[in-house]
Amino acid sequence: MTATIIDGKAFAAGLRERIGELASEFEQKAGRKAGLAVVLVGDDAASQVYVRSKGKATLAANMESFTHLLPGDTTQEDLLALVETLNADPLVDGILVQLPLPKHLDEQAVVDRIVPNKDVDGLTPVSTGQLALGLPGLVPCTPLGSLMLLKDQLGDLSGMDAVVIGRSILVGKPMAQLLLDANATVTIAHSRTKNLPEVVGRADIVVAAVGRAEMVKAEWLKEGATVIDVGINRLAPEPGAEKGRLVGDVDFAGASERASAITPVPGGVGPMTIAVLLRNTLVAAHRNAGLTPPEGL
Ligand code: GUN
Repeated sequence: MTATIIDGKAFAAGLRERIGELASEFEQKAGRKAGLAVVLVGDDAASQVYVRSKGKATLAANMESFTHLLPGDTTQEDLLALVETLNADPLVDGILVQLPLPKHLDEQAVVDRIVPNKDVDGLTPVSTGQLALGLPGLVPCTPLGSLMLLKDQLGDLSGMDAVVIGRSILVGKPMAQLLLDANATVTIAHSRTKNLPEVVGRADIVVAAVGRAEMVKAEWLKEGATVIDVGINRLAPEPGAEKGRLVGDVDFAGASERASAITPVPGGVGPMTIAVLLRNTLVAAHRNAGLTPPEGL
């Protein structure tokens, strides 16, 4: 079997275009643009790239972008004070504090300070609880983007066997909740799972979110499975090359001979994360302005 390569980049581009149109309609109705504030502490190179691309994508979608770049030695107190300021700012609909934060800062305490109606990352205890209870709220971007790709590929997920590998707050746990809400039968596998190949071998849907290069082997997969690869790992450079290749958590070359569909790295799940961040910001903006979010967002 040769797998369909799921084009997350094209899907995300379509979603961003639609969000841009809806953001213009929001501006007409609300008399202001939807706004996203992104906070970066320190000078981590990868985080700087992410934050810059989030800012650009926000502006391209007809929304306002507020970027706050703070020095690496920012205190917990100063960071919490900025979050409070953004909580109270009527032009800010969404607040994203780029993770990871420098070691001396308490990440959970910072996230917990974000008001739930601006929690576009879906990481506060209120958002997490809303997802668990099936209440409307804001859902973490990467899992929601992954679910969109799965539904686009497979339609109704009812009764399918899904295995999520990884149990992080950002991806694994919310991904499992979303699949459960979509009526899949869900297993969460992790570093202590016994006989992972056998567990993966039962799955119609495999979501890999462990952060270990190519650890999911092609021969583990059930023939015809659909594979969502959330990992982004950089391999050591080949001799003479400056940078190593980016690969996912799945052995892509082998898996694409065995799965029925698979997301590539890069160009699969990655582009969906920013598109869903914009979607969450626009949903939050509608609610914050007392408007109903548009259907199908
Ligand atoms: N760092 C890597 N991914 C993410 C994300 O989705 N949200 C935040 N806040 N930080 C991240």
